Amino acid sequence: MKIVVLEGSPNKNGSSNLLADCFRQGAEEAGHSVEIVDTAHADIHPCTGCIHCGYEGPCVQKDDVEAVRKTILAADMLVFVTPLYYYGMSAQLKTMIDRFCAFNSSLQRKHMKSALLTAAWNSDDWTFEALEAHYKTLVRYLNLEDIGMVLGYGCGTPSMTQHSQYPQQAYSLGNRLK
Ligand SMILES: Cc1cc2nc3c(=O)[nH]c(=O)nc-3n(C[C@H](O)[C@H](O)[C@H](O)COP(=O)(O)O)c2cc1C
Repeated sequence: MKIVVLEGSPNKNGSSNLLADCFRQGAEEAGHSVEIVDTAHADIHPCTGCIHCGYEGPCVQKDDVEAVRKTILAADMLVFVTPLYYYGMSAQLKTMIDRFCAFNSSLQRKHMKSALLTAAWNSDDWTFEALEAHYKTLVRYLNLEDIGMVLGYGCGTPSMTQHSQYPQQAYSLGNRLK
């Protein structure tokens, strides 16, 4: 299976990317190919809402999204990776998702598999309620098939994350993919 991982953290060596690396290792060892897209450092501009694309067609903006679009539409699985920012996904990842606008129907038709990998400082049981609800709504709307979520409670720093159960969870999620 071809897997695209959309990373959304400004911290290249941060906690959420650490989970992404573990997921990648597990998936590659299970024979899948994984392409990482660092949405936080790519040239990805916010959707202007012009709807020139008509929700399916060329976007008027010329940036890295055209290449990301091709990568996503050639893949079988989409993995969303984000730090928890004010109880939602990072603006960096959301900016990429808003640009799905120009290939919305193609995405819905593909029925891709998906997963969510995320890290937060907080460890209260409600920490990921809003993000989880948003992710599940995206899964429903985009006709994705959720394969699993790694919700990194108490992962405030890379060291905290390293010493938690979540890197192993991310590895296992990748490794048990069919
Ligand atoms: C702008 C900002 C907002 C944050 N909001 C939350 C939050 O709402 N809840 C929480 O538990 N942690 C919050 N955090 C902490 C991060 O989610 C946490 O440190 C995470 O490990 C960062 O991941 P990264 O290393 O991949 O960037 C926030 C951090 C920043 C910089």
